Amino acid sequence: MKHQNDHEQYVLSPARALTDDEIDLIWKKPVTHASSEAETRISQEIKRNWDRGELKIANVLLEGDAGSGKTQLAKALSANFKLPYTKVTCFADMDKTDIIGAILPVISMDGIKHMEAADQTALRALYESDGFRSSTSILMEALEISQEMASAKMKQLLKQATDHVEDGVVEYRFYPSEIVRAFRNGYLLEIQEPNVIRDAAVLMALNSALELEGSLNLPTEIVHRHPDFIVIITANRSYAGSRPLNEALRDRIQHSEKMDLPTKEVMIERAAAKTGYQDYELLDALANMIMILDKTARANAIKGVAGMRSYFYWVDAVASGTSPRESLYHKVIYKITTDSEEIKILEAALDEQGFLGRLDELQMKLKKNET
Ligand SMILES: Nc1ncnc2c1ncn2[C@@H]1O[C@H](COP(=O)(O)OP(=O)(O)OP(=O)(O)O)[C@@H](O)[C@H]1O
Ligand SMILES: [Mg+2]
Repeated sequence: MKHQNDHEQYVLSPARALTDDEIDLIWKKPVTHASSEAETRISQEIKRNWDRGELKIANVLLEGDAGSGKTQLAKALSANFKLPYTKVTCFADMDKTDIIGAILPVISMDGIKHMEAADQTALRALYESDGFRSSTSILMEALEISQEMASAKMKQLLKQATDHVEDGVVEYRFYPSEIVRAFRNGYLLEIQEPNVIRDAAVLMALNSALELEGSLNLPTEIVHRHPDFIVIITANRSYAGSRPLNEALRDRIQHSEKMDLPTKEVMIERAAAKTGYQDYELLDALANMIMILDKTARANAIKGVAGMRSYFYWVDAVASGTSPRESLYHKVIYKITTDSEEIKILEAALDEQGFLGRLDELQMKLKKNET
């Protein structure tokens, strides 16, 4: 028998009660969303093994091309499983407070008044925050300072608070990281590009958050992994010169997908749905050119990418009346590179297959249709 309610077939914990705020975090698929094979496969796999103890699948890796749809797939899983979606974007200098969170003094307004202006600003920004962001990033923004300075500022504030403890006017508040929030509350967490993290201790902290039966030691308490916590790691495929995904992290993954730039047919279908543009001859030509540019850039070690995003914006520009030849540069080529020698290589690759001439033809056709 077919499922009565197909869009409910992957809900993992139907009995679970979510708050209104949490319901708002569940992704809603836009009409332009097209489910992929990978989406169905992961949804089925996670659902199938959900109650199978040690065989449970809750850490997934999506690795591949930029713009191949990794983030949208992670969000689609939030919709299928009916779990709140949240994400962290990793950066090289991440420290342990970015993984775990930070513990901060709550000093009375009276206590704050005697502090230096910058410290007052810092504490106000922290107290006013909803606890969703890391203390480091709040301080960096409020004081416009670097990561290292923010981290030093935290230590200084902590010391001042200790002095206040003697006056008996201080309490401590723990600001959990986004990771801890998802871990504790059972959300679907996308971790973007953890391969860029440099500090081994930070990677170890991240690894412990991926343990199926794991718990995290916070300064204030021990937090256990919520049974609904799902991690989707999204990363671009490593290339020469980039840092590969940490092996221990990779080892904690129970399902992986190789994400490639979609086929030409899928690209055309998505662009037509998104932009409403229906000239399939032109959609086809532009998709071909994107694929040639992507291949040529790789083959010549040109760093930039030509992918789905460039394609959408190019089609959209043409749909609004800009010439395809002109927008080729502004929407695609200059996004890959502005180096003259590299541009020549890209142009030559298009010309070799007759695509520059073809663009001029298409442009003439468009002009004719207008009049
Ligand atoms: N299943 C889909 N149906 C329709 N459009 C999609 C789908 N998947 C991705 N897209 C579109 O393709 C574009 C790129 O997708 P997405 O941001 O998910 O890629 P990504 O792999 O996460 O990219 P990056 O490597 O830059 O993080 C977006 O505009 C997105 O809306
Ligand atoms: Mg992404």
